[in-house]
Amino acid sequence: MSGPIGVFDSGYGGLTVLRELVNRLPGYDYLYLGDNARSPYGNRSFETVYEYTLQCVRWFFDQGCPLVILACNTASAKALRSIQQKDLPQLAPDRRVLGVIRPTTELIGTFSRTGSVGILATNGTVASGSYPVEINRFFPDLKVYQEACPMWVPLVENGEYNSAGADFFIRKNLDNLLSKGSDIDTVLLACTHYPLLRDKIQAALPEGIQLLSQGQIVAESLADYLQRHPEIEERCRRGNDRRFYTTDSPEDFDNHATAFFGEAVRSERCQL
Ligand code: DGL
Repeated sequence: MSGPIGVFDSGYGGLTVLRELVNRLPGYDYLYLGDNARSPYGNRSFETVYEYTLQCVRWFFDQGCPLVILACNTASAKALRSIQQKDLPQLAPDRRVLGVIRPTTELIGTFSRTGSVGILATNGTVASGSYPVEINRFFPDLKVYQEACPMWVPLVENGEYNSAGADFFIRKNLDNLLSKGSDIDTVLLACTHYPLLRDKIQAALPEGIQLLSQGQIVAESLADYLQRHPEIEERCRRGNDRRFYTTDSPEDFDNHATAFFGEAVRSERCQL
């Protein structure tokens, strides 16, 4: 039986990834779930992020998704491994759950000339150590500097991404990051909410530092994955359909979602 590709985030951020998936792989059906009622996840414990994410993954499976993308770094950092190793074999051994960290860490070293990269992410992602550990598996000599930006998701979720408050926190966190590694030449937005702050971040970075977002990298990686896994690809339905669900108010979701997805969205409420 075939079904849509599931795309999950704690809130709206995953829509920046879905947007690129739809661009790169337009024929498939996609089902998006934002757990807005419990967002943000970034400051929550491992146990809580794991519990919430697993609950959402089960919901995707109930909807018939053969493949679920955790388009959230925090969930990828704190829940993905346990779900893949512990839960999936019992729950649905023939389905797959993928994250956004691995595709990014496989490539990031190819962008840097100085051998120093900066990671901007939530508290949870930074504390998990996932980026330095994963990057050093692929690029053992790359220096990885991290900066947690706990105010950025709340600013974005509350529609304050164009405000002077956003400028203040962007400047503060970038100064911190660059004081840790002065030869950083590549900075990764390791949170799917941050592309909405991209112009401000780019403007605040010294010239010559390149800024990477994950959407296109993840989309390219999924295209490659589907090619290498025909047994999964043939179960991903191709009807060009997109559905959006939220655990909170659909009206709020629809009002905010356009800025992330790039086009108007009509969502429904999901009961987990
Ligand atoms: N978009 C999520 C991420 O990529 C944000 C997390 C949050 O809910 O704090 O990490």
